[in-house]
Amino acid sequence: MEVLSVASEAYPLIKTGGLADVVGVLPAALAPHGVSMRVLLPGYPRVMSGLTGGHEIYWFEDLFGGEARLIAGRANGLDAIAIDAPHLYDRPGNPYLGPDGKDWPDNWRRFAALSFAGYEISRGIVEGYRPEVLHCHDWQAGLVPAYVRFNPGSTARTIVTVHNIAFQGVFGWDVFNGLKLDYEAARTGSIEYFGNLSYLKAGLLLADEVTTVSPTYAHEIRTAAYGMGLEGLLQSRADSVMGILNGIDANEWNPGTDPALAQTYGASTIFNRAANKAAVEQRFGLEPGEGPIFCVVSRLTTQKGLDMLPGLIDMLVAHGGRLAVLGSGDAAIENGFAGAALRHPGKVGVHIGYDEGLSHLMQGGADAILIPSRFEPCGLTQLYGLRYGCIPVVSRVGGLADTVIDANEAAIEAGVATGVVFSPAAEEVLGEAIRRTIALYARPKVWHKMQRRGMKSDVSWELSAEKYADLYGSLLGHARDDDADD
Ligand code: ADP
Ligand code: GLC
Repeated sequence: MEVLSVASEAYPLIKTGGLADVVGVLPAALAPHGVSMRVLLPGYPRVMSGLTGGHEIYWFEDLFGGEARLIAGRANGLDAIAIDAPHLYDRPGNPYLGPDGKDWPDNWRRFAALSFAGYEISRGIVEGYRPEVLHCHDWQAGLVPAYVRFNPGSTARTIVTVHNIAFQGVFGWDVFNGLKLDYEAARTGSIEYFGNLSYLKAGLLLADEVTTVSPTYAHEIRTAAYGMGLEGLLQSRADSVMGILNGIDANEWNPGTDPALAQTYGASTIFNRAANKAAVEQRFGLEPGEGPIFCVVSRLTTQKGLDMLPGLIDMLVAHGGRLAVLGSGDAAIENGFAGAALRHPGKVGVHIGYDEGLSHLMQGGADAILIPSRFEPCGLTQLYGLRYGCIPVVSRVGGLADTVIDANEAAIEAGVATGVVFSPAAEEVLGEAIRRTIALYARPKVWHKMQRRGMKSDVSWELSAEKYADLYGSLLGHARDDDADD
């Protein structure tokens, strides 16, 4: 099966969050299931410089306002097609924001062009390549099903995967004329959203199948509390909204071989984590101590519930804990952590920024990772925590609820506990979870058992890759039936 994955980021070429990890690993996870997957990406500077063996496979005289080329190349085994369109993507900043931290004003055009290029490829513009399925990720690829449905020439089947329903790609109607989208899309109301237009809504409505990244989130987004306005639409498509849990890239995230660690280890050599803990202390300026080191590796946003943490740090330190924070995001949260580091030298260390290697070391050396999300479609850092023996302390939402088993006394007794789970995501409840974690850490036997259990839990792609492969297969089966009816 030839599948083209359409996305705004993919590790190792470009990453701002978990989306990149997932898009980057899916092709390798799916290969054993008979799926040949390439990834279509915007040609940001880092994508263009990261590709090896890049060669032109198509030329657009005009792609949304300028010349563009499709460049096929590879990155660490990833088979990528980059849209080399300097007028859209050759800019500083991250994929979505300029250096001033604000959305690029022409994001509507930049990601319409991504979707349009995906549709064009599915029409067969590239010689010798015509994907049968377009797997579209988040709002940036949300218009793909609209082009396939309303513009001529593509018979591809489409899947939209929701990695985060909070981002919906909403723009004013004035952009419609620039989309190269057949007027029928407007006339039928397919892309209309409360008086504006929404790329994600279009995708959710028009895709052959909709998936999201955990079973619990698949239920949550059909409710008003989590659906962010799209719950009605999702209820109406309930039969085709499936939750397929993310896995991790077990080569990139393997404590037995990870080059970012001071010392590698496995479930039976967990004592070797001590060297990594010392390295974390050193990197964050923490004094050695008896209590646990908590870490945060995250976007610092209210989604992640991290606005609740600064107010709890005095308590965390008073109970003998230490804290290492790596992340960036909302200025108020960054300042909250910076203030705590000043109040508690040697106990709290903060790195504002993004550092892939350091994130690995923290999973390998900190004792617990705090993930108090208000909502979490899947979450990957708790999966890395499980694999690395860094106990996840999580709120009971989305993929966090699906992947971590709370250390209540019954679960401890049964030997199935892998972390600390709390609900609801509220400051005093998080505080209680932190105290509970510190108390568990003081029971070394229980703690080590949880670590080992977590390290053995299945966080691989095995089961989920099969589900995606089955889904593509069933779509193509339908395609054959439809053709037979014609
Ligand atoms: P989300 O995609 O919502 O941000 P996930 O848990 O799915 O959350 O994925 C986050 C990914 O980004 C993980 O790979 C995590 O390790 C990484 N990450 C987040 N913040 C940082 C940071 N400051 N430095 C390095 N890696 C980070
Ligand atoms: C999004 C979600 C996160 C998920 C990731 C990959 O960024 O916020 O929960 O793990 O996508 O699917």
